Formats: sequence, structure tokens, C-alpha cells
Amino acid sequence: MKTVNVKASREYNVCIERGILKDAGEMISAVHKPCKAMLISDTNVAPLYAKTVTDSLCASGFETVSFIIEAGEESKNAVNLALIWEALAENSLTRSDIIIALGGGVVGDLSGFAAATYLRGIEYIQIPTTLLAMVDSSVGGKTAVDLKAGKNLAGAFYQPSLVICDPEALKTLSAQTFSDGMAEVIKYGFINRPELLSLLESDFDIADVIEICVEDKRDIVSLDEKDRGLRQLLNLGHTVGHGIERCSGYSITHGSAVAAGMVIITRAAIKAGICDNGVLEVLIKLLEKFSLPTSCDFTAQEICNAAFNDKKRKGNSITLVIPEKLGESGLVPYDVDKLLDFISGAWKND
Ligand code: GLY
Repeated sequence: MKTVNVKASREYNVCIERGILKDAGEMISAVHKPCKAMLISDTNVAPLYAKTVTDSLCASGFETVSFIIEAGEESKNAVNLALIWEALAENSLTRSDIIIALGGGVVGDLSGFAAATYLRGIEYIQIPTTLLAMVDSSVGGKTAVDLKAGKNLAGAFYQPSLVICDPEALKTLSAQTFSDGMAEVIKYGFINRPELLSLLESDFDIADVIEICVEDKRDIVSLDEKDRGLRQLLNLGHTVGHGIERCSGYSITHGSAVAAGMVIITRAAIKAGICDNGVLEVLIKLLEKFSLPTSCDFTAQEICNAAFNDKKRKGNSITLVIPEKLGESGLVPYDVDKLLDFISGAWKND
């Protein structure tokens, strides 16, 4: 089994191995004595994997109750959060009990926020079933719900006690959902992992790729858990990507928006003379290999208008993640007034 140890405000392991869903109970009992466990999942994932996980938990002495949300980003809201709190209370879960998040980023973020706030904090376990959740959202303790004004606007930093990744679960993902996860994987390569870029060009084992991404996220989170500086590197392509998502009314998926966002920011950086020319070609080749978009139909003005609401904005300045060399990105504070001019560079051909 591949194990990545994360040292943050809570220390925990991310365990990666094919077929480990059926061992979830045993693995969880190694970090938490048997108790009542609320399994939170969604209408796509529960029919596929909830029984395997529940049987395994029961065999290890856990008593389980479950809460199933409708699959989709619309479920990551304060109404569902309150329904989960009520269900936890109705089922008499105490501070010695746990939440288990079985699903993708929506289930993980919502469950994590419920765990952070119910009884002022109970432990939770992440069992990510999408690639995006395995390489990003299940690790690092960002938990949240969306508000009308934008995504992830209410939440907490709250680390899980264990993350269980079973790459076998990726087999049931749609091609689109797998590609969305690959956008986040590719992102790590361009932030600071050039060796990942070569691996992705080869016939790779996805478990190796997950391990590299989780190690990278671990290294960044352990230095900046609360996202005050270095952790913002993980937002490569995200400011523009969030703008694209908003412009599309969220019909463009997060991964596709981040993919196009990475291309736009790289093109703009090359145009501004702060990024090596060769970076763009490698980026586009990799995105195309995984059927991800390399452009979008919105204008620089539309994207900037939408991106200005980004919660990472500090007063009149926004921190952009700029790819500078192949496999090396940096943080550059940018005056909001100059952002449109900078981003517009991506649309200029001269
Ligand atoms: N998804 C970016 C982060 O965890 O900081």
C-alpha cells in the first residue's frame, strides 16, 4: 500500500491501494475505536460502494447510519448542511463518533464542514471516489458549502483523520469526470513537479500519479495549512477557471474550466514576458491527451468581471499563480485594475 503521511493541525495518512474499500472498517478502526459512524454519500456513489464500506465497518464493530445527498454541485449548500446536522443529532452521534465521506469533492467538502461544526467538531474520514477528490479535495482539510454569491464561500479548515483512496473506484467514473480530475493532476506538474509531466506523457499507473499529487499537496499544506501564501500555488488556472465557470452558469465543469484557465494564464504570462515560451506547447499537448479544453468562448472582459468576485482577492489586489518555467510556478500579486490588460494578452496574436 502507498501511504502518504500528512502533518498539519492533525496528523493523518492518505492510503492508496486498489481494492481497499472493502478494508475500510479495519483501516478506520486503526485510527478510531469502533463507534457510531454516519456515512455520507450521494445518489451516484452510494449504489456502487456504500454496501462494501458499510459491511466492512460493521465487520469491524462500527454501528452505521447513512445520509445520501443528490449527486451534483447544487447539493453543496447550507440547507443540506443543516439537514446533516439534524440527522447527526437525531441519530444521537456524540463527539466520540465519526462521519465518513464516501464520494467526490461535493460529498467530501460538505461532510468535512458538517464534521467541523457538529458539536464544535467530530472526527471524519475521507473516502474519495473521484480522481479530483483523490488528488485534491480530500487532502488538506478545506471544507465548505457554496453560497449564492459563489462557491466555497462558507467553510472551515478541518483535517480528516484518515483518507482512503481506492483507484479501482475510478473505473466507474464517466470519461468527463475522469478528465476533470486529470486537469488537477496536470496542474501539479506545472506548479512544481516537472517529473509528473514526463510520467503523464507515458503509459502510467494512476496509483503512482495519485501518490505524487498527494505528496505534493502534503508538502504545500504542511507549510501553509491556512492558505495564507504558498498554498495559493494550488490555484494555478483557478482564478480564470472560476471566472469561466461563473460565465457558463456552471455548465462548464470545474476541471474543464481550470484546464482552459491554465492555458489562458500561461498565454498571458508568455505575452507579458514572464513565462518561457515552451510551457504552452507542453500544456496544450497534455490537456489534449486527456480530452480537456484549451480555450473557451468567453471574452477576457467577461472572465475578469466574473473572476473579480474570487474570495482570494485582497482589497485591490489579487494573487495570480503564474507558470514561469516548465514545472515551476510562482505567486504574483496583481493590481485588479491591471488584470484585464494582462489576461487580454492571451487573446492577442502578435
Ligand atoms: N484545492 C486547493 C487547496 O486545497 O488549497
